[in-house]
Amino acid sequence: AFSQCVNRRKSLDPTSLAFAFDIDGVLVRGKRALDHGRQAIQHLNSVKVPYILLTNGGGKTERARTEELSRLLETDIPEHILVQSHTPIRSLFDPDVLVDRLDGKGKRHRRVLVVGGAANSCAEVAKSYGYKDVVTPSQIYAACRAIWPFSQLTEEQLLKIPERQMWTFRAGPGAIPEPPDNVAIDGILVFTDPRDWGLDAQVVLDYLRSDRGLLGTISDGAHVPIFFCNDDLVFANDYAQPRLGNGAFREMVKSLYRRLSGGTELVDTVIGKPYKTTYDYAAKVLADRRAELHGNGLPPLDPDRIYMVGDNPASDITGGRAYGWHTILVRTGVFRDGQYTADANIISDSVSDAVNYGMSRE
Ligand code: G3P
Ligand code: MG
Repeated sequence: AFSQCVNRRKSLDPTSLAFAFDIDGVLVRGKRALDHGRQAIQHLNSVKVPYILLTNGGGKTERARTEELSRLLETDIPEHILVQSHTPIRSLFDPDVLVDRLDGKGKRHRRVLVVGGAANSCAEVAKSYGYKDVVTPSQIYAACRAIWPFSQLTEEQLLKIPERQMWTFRAGPGAIPEPPDNVAIDGILVFTDPRDWGLDAQVVLDYLRSDRGLLGTISDGAHVPIFFCNDDLVFANDYAQPRLGNGAFREMVKSLYRRLSGGTELVDTVIGKPYKTTYDYAAKVLADRRAELHGNGLPPLDPDRIYMVGDNPASDITGGRAYGWHTILVRTGVFRDGQYTADANIISDSVSDAVNYGMSRE
């Protein structure tokens, strides 16, 4: 069915359309590739129709993630066509500017707390983006167990956490970091889904309520800037029903901040689908890919010929529609018939049907 349908338009001009594919619930479920995902991506590679992968997932470098996806989908996926939850951070915030705040001594801190992913994986991602001074909740926990008494991190896991000996904490009751400015930070980047919500929420809230990012202090003043790179309330893995996503973690942090600060609302910045910042970034990646495959000087694509294929109406379809792209909602992930569709242009059984539709549409 797939090859027959697509072959109908052998004369298809590969510069006349493009795709943006969501990953979880479209190409893969959990750690398993969907057959339709393999078929669709392998075919587009063979006919050189430009596409990008646009996911709210993250936690690995783009190189590591595309190496994993190339294995799963059994075809080559270059790292520069992958836009993850945190990829736009790479160019949006110059690591030397995002947190250009002077501390009391006029000393420029450029240290960020990076949250999410397994152990220190997101610290490596932040460093690949140019952040030189990165701290993670698990590093702080490794130096001061009292900061979160319920963590399940084992001693063996803690020993694997790099640079955990960066700080000293006054031991015993009232353990707080000393000297405090050893662990001052200037910004919080929540890259992807935390693995230990309790520890990560506790450390994030400690910093948000601190005096200008000095761990161990409390202030009613302005909190350090915080960026969430994924606002998915739920997402599709290989369980039958959608699972809580990073957006649920954000809700928890905002609610706790409001309760702990006596009613003050957290002022945060959110990127990722459906937000325009991420679609602006993705549109540039897609235009560059089209030029890479077919040369510069092409007329820009009609947005209605850019097919956003996703499984989550709240992120993929809402963002794609707002951007003027043609949106295809698939039934292989979060969405179920009868639920909110965010007015997707079309609903498809699978990503290969979605590719058929896009490539057969006159
Ligand atoms: O953390 C991954 C999840 O939030 C959604 O990923 O690929 O469906 O945008 P994706
Ligand atoms: Mg998805």
